[in-house]
Amino acid sequence: MENLQTHISVAGGVVKPVDGVSFHIKQAETVALVGESGSGKSMTALSILRVLPRPGGHIAGGKILFDGVDLAQLSEKEMRSYRGSKIAMILQDPHSSLDPMYQIGEQIGESLRVHHKASGAGVKRRVAELLRLVRIPAAEERARAYPHQMSGGMRQRVVGAIAMSSEPQLIIADEPTTALDVTIQAQYLSLLKDIQANSNLAILLITHDLGIVAKMCQRIIVMYGGRIVEEATVEQAFNRPAHPYTAGLVRSLPKLKGRVPRLYSIEGQPPALDTLPQGCRFAPRCPSVMDTCTKEYPPIVTLQDNQKVACWLHVHDTTKQPAA
Ligand SMILES: Nc1ncnc2c1ncn2[C@@H]1O[C@H](COP(=O)(O)OP(=O)(O)OP(=O)(O)O)[C@@H](O)[C@H]1O
Ligand code: SF4
Ligand SMILES: [Mg+2]
Repeated sequence: MENLQTHISVAGGVVKPVDGVSFHIKQAETVALVGESGSGKSMTALSILRVLPRPGGHIAGGKILFDGVDLAQLSEKEMRSYRGSKIAMILQDPHSSLDPMYQIGEQIGESLRVHHKASGAGVKRRVAELLRLVRIPAAEERARAYPHQMSGGMRQRVVGAIAMSSEPQLIIADEPTTALDVTIQAQYLSLLKDIQANSNLAILLITHDLGIVAKMCQRIIVMYGGRIVEEATVEQAFNRPAHPYTAGLVRSLPKLKGRVPRLYSIEGQPPALDTLPQGCRFAPRCPSVMDTCTKEYPPIVTLQDNQKVACWLHVHDTTKQPAA
């Protein structure tokens, strides 16, 4: 996406949850989108699918390029051939999308027919294949089960099979802020891995948990106050983070043994979008703040190996002096 601007008109003005966001995701890649609550992660994801809050949510500028097509320009009708099809979203809550009245095989089959991925006798065979893909044992038999006859983890796998029935190229996985059951979460992540194995499927994983990022992702995009402040490989972000905010996130990580704490122990509050500071949005909390930082928003600088950062510390100009 290029310079994406997503705005929401509210009484008294406009909020800009996505304020000039650019990034790329390659085939077969898993990219993490991280940042504190309210930083604009979900709005970025919902913009890709064009399912913004109504009334008021709209794309105010920029491009969302998918296979060379700018999704931001498509009509609602054209968008339907992407949403839930070439681009799918898998939520962690397994109760959300299964109909209790139908056997799971019927529900997967219906999705195959809708997306024209199988018809007639091919449907049954493909249903079994999809159930095997998400590692549901005894696929043919389980296809006749109703959702309530399955465990939470298995239902989640069925939801994954339905998402895969349209043969998507991109899956967006938005992890909820409130922690779900740890077992369900682990099952969810292993499901994502299973469906990505041996395919070119790209995953955009939105999470609060850097432990998960380390396990699952190749690259990380860090959002702060509606903008990207750093884009890096996971290795770069963990070993030599360029932005003080990323550094703070990473520092809050390895101290506890066992399960990694959910983020963030950085002092201060994320900015409210209606009262953003002039200049760098992280300045009020930044340990390295300089004069320039409070005056002007930093440009994006590309460092070694394509690591990108928006921070004055990396703009080499001797006229910028640390604040006294
Ligand atoms: N329906 C809405 N009306 C007005 N503003 C909204 C609405 N939904 C979201 N916002 C604004 O957009 C900002 C970004 O929201 P978003 O849901 O993208 O955050 P997030 O990064 O996904 O947070 P979380 O980690 O809590 O899921 C919020 O801070 C809020 O100000
Ligand atoms: S631009 Fe300045 S305030 Fe912002 S993160 Fe960099 S050093 Fe800190
Ligand atoms: Mg969110």
